[in-house]
Amino acid sequence: MPDLVSAPFTGTPHISAAPGDFAPLVLMPGDPRRARRIAETFLEDARRVTEVRGILGYTGSHQGVPMSVLASGMGIPSVSIYATELFRHYGVRRIVRVGTAGAIPASVRVRDVVIASAAHTDSSLGRVLVDGVSLSLAPSYRLLRAAADAAEQEPSAVHIGAVFSSDHFYLDRPALFDALERRGTLAVEMEAAGLYAVACAEGGEALAVLTVSDHLRTGDALTADERETDFDRALRIAAVALLADV
Ligand code: HPA
Repeated sequence: MPDLVSAPFTGTPHISAAPGDFAPLVLMPGDPRRARRIAETFLEDARRVTEVRGILGYTGSHQGVPMSVLASGMGIPSVSIYATELFRHYGVRRIVRVGTAGAIPASVRVRDVVIASAAHTDSSLGRVLVDGVSLSLAPSYRLLRAAADAAEQEPSAVHIGAVFSSDHFYLDRPALFDALERRGTLAVEMEAAGLYAVACAEGGEALAVLTVSDHLRTGDALTADERETDFDRALRIAAVALLADV
């Protein structure tokens, strides 16, 4: 006789949280230590809900609204695993990536914020979801609009434009960055396109709000400590986007 009683949900392959442990609104840094820091400094009453593979997740609240944070790890394969499982199995509706990026044009400087209104990529992800089509990898307009409005309150530079989500960190191809710059690309990072593709596939909303941690042309860079602390502006903008029309 087949067992007709389905097994209780005990988490996904990569997340050990119970049903209901995540809020519908999720902040997503790359680094697990940054996830812990966001939980400690930005959320109220945060409790840890998952730590599989050291990928830390917490749920608390922000301005009285339930909000979670979960690290994505590095790269499109990693972010797409966590985003898919959050949208598909935990009732998550919105994910805003709060990560770092390398600036490409001189007009974007270290410590500036870049809101990714599109994500170019050399990953296959945008091409495999619909046969024969390169999907446009873009954020939720509602979240983007809220973030753009919030950026106007910030005293220092916030740029809105396309980023390049690369599958290769150690890519020695300066001509590639010249070509991307000529086409208006503001920065390089490694996750936004994966997050946007997953949101598109799963019917969720997503956005990436990036702090510029280094500059590809000048070699300027934040220190490891500055990377930890200098992204409060991105976090404020990200939270406004998550809370848009809630
Ligand atoms: N390349 C890729 N990802 C990044 C970079 C970079 O220079 N800086 C921060 N994330």
